[in-house]
Amino acid sequence: MKGVTVITHPLVQHNLTRLRDERTEPQEFRRVLSEVAALMIYEATRTFATDKVTVRTPLATTRGLKLRREVVLVPVLRAGLGMLDSILQLIPKARVGFIGLKREETTLAAQFYHKSLPKDLRQREVILIDPMLATGGSTVAAMALLAELGARNVRLVNLVAAPEGIRHVRQHCPTLRIFTAAIDAKLNRHGFILPGLGDAGDRLFGV
Ligand code: PRP
Repeated sequence: MKGVTVITHPLVQHNLTRLRDERTEPQEFRRVLSEVAALMIYEATRTFATDKVTVRTPLATTRGLKLRREVVLVPVLRAGLGMLDSILQLIPKARVGFIGLKREETTLAAQFYHKSLPKDLRQREVILIDPMLATGGSTVAAMALLAELGARNVRLVNLVAAPEGIRHVRQHCPTLRIFTAAIDAKLNRHGFILPGLGDAGDRLFGV
């Protein structure tokens, strides 16, 4: 699917399977989600823009690369928090913005309850972090907010997506690059991904 990269690496898929397993308790779920995020960020940042620089080693001068733009990580609360720490360890200079979104239980419409972001995202690489993409409503809402702040280079690090949600997001946010570990079969009538892994927020925090 255009704009969507499914990361089929065996370590990612092994971890995804652990996360799907209903017997995986919150303590283990947090650990594995964090691990899989670190693996996925490697792929999601592969096409980051770089500039050529020269560098002096203790012995000689040589050429190298440095990242062109500052990075802003934006986890969507709550579930996105489960992928934040390990990504931040790999990109320690990144700034972190937060978006709080909650799906209303009957309409499934995404509603903001928290926004805390850098004011200007124009020259930044933005990584939106949300392990679940169901109807796509949360991602579309988050992207509208990021666009208001000028974001042009946005990647979504996601774990499991529903085809319906991907279609919705592609329609409303054609420039968003999506990195996921699985495109599952479908949504059930309550808007949960099948087979999915349940409610990632609840499984992370036990509530
Ligand atoms: C879940 C999930 C995503 C969103 C996906 O969050 O973590 O953010 O729903 O659904 P959508 O694609 O249909 O919008 P939820 O609203 O349950 O909040 P939580 O992370 O606090 O559990």
